[in-house]
Amino acid sequence: MASSGAATNIFVLLGLGIAGVLLAARRLRRPARPDHGAFIARLELLPPPQPPPPQAPHPLTGLCFAIADALHVRGYITSFGSLEWARTHEEATQTSPVVSALVDGGATCVGKTVIDEMAYSIHGDNKHLNTPTNPAAPDRVPGGCSSGSAVAVAGGMVDFALGIDSIGGVRIPGAYCGVLAFRPSHAVVSNGGVIPVAPSLDTIGWFARDPSVLRRVGHLLLRLPYADIRPPRHFYIADDCFELSKIPARKLTQVVTKSVEKLFGRQVTRVNLGNYLASRISTLKNYSNGQENADTKGPSLLALSNAMRLLHKREFKDQHMEWINSVKASVDARIVSSLSNDGDSVIDSCQHVRNEARLALSALLKDDGILVIPTALGSPPKLNAKELSSENYNSQTSCLSSIASMSGCCQVSIPLGTHDKCPISVSFIARHGGDRFLLDTTQTMYAIIQEQVEILAKSNVSSKQAMNEEAAEVAKEKGNSAFKEKQWQKAVTFYTEAIKLNGKVATYYSNRAAAFLELTSYRQAEADCTSAIDLDPKIVKAYLRRGTAREMLGYYKEAVEDFNHALVLEPMNKTASVAINRLKKLFP
Ligand SMILES: *[C@@H]1O[C@H](CO)[C@@H](O)[C@H](O)[C@H]1NC(C)=O
Ligand SMILES: *[C@@H]1O[C@H](CO)[C@@H](O)[C@H](O)[C@H]1NC(C)=O
Ligand SMILES: *[C@@H]1O[C@H](CO)[C@@H](O)[C@H](O)[C@H]1NC(C)=O
Repeated sequence: MASSGAATNIFVLLGLGIAGVLLAARRLRRPARPDHGAFIARLELLPPPQPPPPQAPHPLTGLCFAIADALHVRGYITSFGSLEWARTHEEATQTSPVVSALVDGGATCVGKTVIDEMAYSIHGDNKHLNTPTNPAAPDRVPGGCSSGSAVAVAGGMVDFALGIDSIGGVRIPGAYCGVLAFRPSHAVVSNGGVIPVAPSLDTIGWFARDPSVLRRVGHLLLRLPYADIRPPRHFYIADDCFELSKIPARKLTQVVTKSVEKLFGRQVTRVNLGNYLASRISTLKNYSNGQENADTKGPSLLALSNAMRLLHKREFKDQHMEWINSVKASVDARIVSSLSNDGDSVIDSCQHVRNEARLALSALLKDDGILVIPTALGSPPKLNAKELSSENYNSQTSCLSSIASMSGCCQVSIPLGTHDKCPISVSFIARHGGDRFLLDTTQTMYAIIQEQVEILAKSNVSSKQAMNEEAAEVAKEKGNSAFKEKQWQKAVTFYTEAIKLNGKVATYYSNRAAAFLELTSYRQAEADCTSAIDLDPKIVKAYLRRGTAREMLGYYKEAVEDFNHALVLEPMNKTASVAINRLKKLFP
């Protein structure tokens, strides 16, 4: 593998970087900074010559890429997002095997990109190096820690770029800059030649604009032999995760729902992931304040997020506290202040959570299931926004990123156009080891997903109604869950919400009637059944329920009529015939 020759001092590179980068900026229209500030150093690692025919050419021939500056290249100082780090470290003596594999595979490495200081945060602002400019939304943060790599891809400067993702470092900037971002399953791609952040969470991920490039890079790095593409069988939409999102859920989920219907002729399944995880992860506790609080019933996504953040902090300290102490004043105060000793007592149980999370998601997704969640909470925050340092923003964002980080599952973030002029995206998660399946599915679905994005963008008026219809379905599902848990009043509240959002669905009334029956509110139950029957004259359940309500109210004749009607619609229905016999015996 070729290297650009003499080792270069990083400070020279910082100074000369802009000039060197002009070359790559040809395709950009008058950018404020020619490379959007994505690169910290330019270099050139050229692929080996092509093998002679009839051997196939290198699989990544013609592609160029950039790498986050936490990966080593022999002869270069790795800055790790920090001038102080660069000043106190020697040039790397080995190139990361991942970088070598890509170059040997035919791609050209053209430079190293800016990351957040010590790859610690997910914001993409760096107080010491310049913050790269988000090409898709210049007044917004690009997201971190692999900000420069996402920006280099979004700005069209490279075909793909490597980043590092511990707690969202590839997925978040991918979402904020509007490009595809892939986090592989934990430990399937070598972390050799990379500065560790939190080893039990660290992965090397990559960005691309084109799904086939995303996949080709994956096939090379994951060393996948040829195999048939296996179609996905189940799509699980995690409603509770979409509720965290500030983007109307429908705008994200409808695209997926429609694409799945069109492409595979399947319906998606809606799940409450938090409830599922709570039922599967015995060790999941509320770890807020770094303590194991007795309340295990708390929102389990938040618990997962807290466990991830504690592990991240603990492992980061193990790696870097000594160095931070030696240069303390030079490290961003936000990092230093977050590294308290809170939470050390629960680290063991956080590790159990990680293991159980992997088992839980494997059991749900198996070999052919995809979990659908939003990648981020919403639009990227404005540059320097207070939101970035708010606990709420960080813990909620971590709720979403911790699902793959904690379980070690692979995740891809897929751009879905814009909302309020900022990129939005959705994520697919497959089980640990399902990387090929996930990359193949992404490629298979990408075109139709983008088509649906366009259709949705054009149908602005009808989409509001559609959005309400979907929200109503979600409310109904919640009502059903409450009903199952015998929380009748709560069920009534959810069904009422569903009816408010969409008053045209007989089931909502009929279900609310069932809850009213349990509450012995017979008059309301009767009225709801009548509404349901008006909307759908064939709704057997509503006749049965109205019959029951009327029986309780003492309207026996009307009750018998309702049960009879149910029998007409469903002649074998025992509930109806038993009721009729009972009433006939009582009032012959
Ligand atoms: C977790 O426990 C803390 C302290 O007891 C409490 O303040 C917080 O509301 C709880 N959070 C959840 C999500 O249950
Ligand atoms: C979408 O909105 C624009 C402006 O608000 C309007 O002109 C257009 O007719 C709308 N499109 C549809 C399909 O309703
Ligand atoms: C009667 O019909 C209702 C509504 O279709 C159904 O839920 C119920 O299970 C049926 N009961 C019997 C005993 O067939």
